[in-house]
Amino acid sequence: MHNLIEQLIEKFPLIPPLQRAEPICWLNEQVNDEQSFPFSMAMVYEVEARLKRFAPYFEAAFPEMQEYEGIIESPIMEIRRMKAYLENTYETKIEGKLLLKCDHQLPIAGSVKARGGIYEIVKHAESLAIQHGLLSIEDDYSQLYDERFRQFFQSYKIAVGSTGNLGLSIGIISAKLGFHVTVHMSMDAKEWKKQLLRDLGVTVIEYEADYSEAVKQGRLEAEQDVTCHFVDDENSLDLFAGYAVAALRVKAQLEAENITVNEEHPLFVYLPCGVGGAPGGISYGLKQLYGSNVHIFFAEPTQSPCMLLGMMTGLHDEIDVAQIGLTNVTEADGLAVGRASKFVGAHMATIVSGCYTVEDAFLFESLQEMYNSEHIFMEPSAHAGFFGPIQLARKGLGCVEQYGLKPFMQNAHHLIWSTGGSLVPDEWRNHYLQK
Ligand SMILES: Cc1ncc(COP(=O)(O)O)c(C=O)c1O
Repeated sequence: MHNLIEQLIEKFPLIPPLQRAEPICWLNEQVNDEQSFPFSMAMVYEVEARLKRFAPYFEAAFPEMQEYEGIIESPIMEIRRMKAYLENTYETKIEGKLLLKCDHQLPIAGSVKARGGIYEIVKHAESLAIQHGLLSIEDDYSQLYDERFRQFFQSYKIAVGSTGNLGLSIGIISAKLGFHVTVHMSMDAKEWKKQLLRDLGVTVIEYEADYSEAVKQGRLEAEQDVTCHFVDDENSLDLFAGYAVAALRVKAQLEAENITVNEEHPLFVYLPCGVGGAPGGISYGLKQLYGSNVHIFFAEPTQSPCMLLGMMTGLHDEIDVAQIGLTNVTEADGLAVGRASKFVGAHMATIVSGCYTVEDAFLFESLQEMYNSEHIFMEPSAHAGFFGPIQLARKGLGCVEQYGLKPFMQNAHHLIWSTGGSLVPDEWRNHYLQK
């Protein structure tokens, strides 16, 4: 074990500052447009078509979905005041415009986990109903809200392991459809997320262990029951495809705002990363659509940089942050993951331009500033993206040089991906705002 760490220190100069929990920025030299992937955009278009079939169901089952015409999506907005704050406070010039992708506002589950999580469950529900001759894809799916469907789904179970937000998204949609659902929560999950689920009739099992253990226990329990579908956050292609659909939506939203993305108008995207599924799916889609004109960075807490560690060393899920002496303890509960998804990490090797780490203190500073200046509340994990443009300006210039982007940085758009917050209760909001 010690040998491994000594070898890593010798090979990767960023390991010692990573061990000291300093904010670092790693640039990926393998990034290119060639991707070998067990996946295709055809699967993403299939997601879009299936979610459209479900739009009438979402409108029937969740009244707030009527204003979204049944499509689970969030807006993009420019955040000028936050840009000025970051530039002044960190004495850096952020060239180009700062945009926010407002997934903290995603309807139904209030986080980035809504798209993928809800997609996997509705896909499962659709296939059960079709197999049993209860539904065909030409039908009006609002009927899935009828009692006879709820009774049918009651014979089936769903299980998932989570740090909180995936559990919320799976729990809310599964309970609404009528499934018996169990959420295995890691020690990081916030009490209010567990209570919200219990109030909906979801079984919540709590662990005194981290996310990887909660997933493992959930998987073991589900394997013993043929009626149980396990949502595997570490390996699921359906989740991944569900997250990736966001890229199609972003492209349409940017076009609608006349925002160009091409060689002279680069797009930078900063995504908070836990196990990697949500940022991985989104990045896959964006890279397919924008190729070398999009530059994607994953953001992780200084104590939980599992994706950075896995990608930089090439060890992916074979190394845990504890092995380099980090605690995996962070207030960014959604990002408290010590071991990255193998499936995602390996496939991000040519997609992600880099990963950086961010301290919890920055997340709270950003949370308070966004609330005060932009009047937007986002949970701590969702703020990891804001540190990206600062890190890029300070430490990530290699990326700008590598692509000859310097002359075009004034045309750049920096898309900060917000990932959660609208369901946070007032009591917790006040607690975060006063920290
Ligand atoms: C608020 C928030 N942001 C980001 C993420 C990261 O997603 P993933 O674990 O798929 O990398 C999570 C995961 O739960 C989250 O809750």
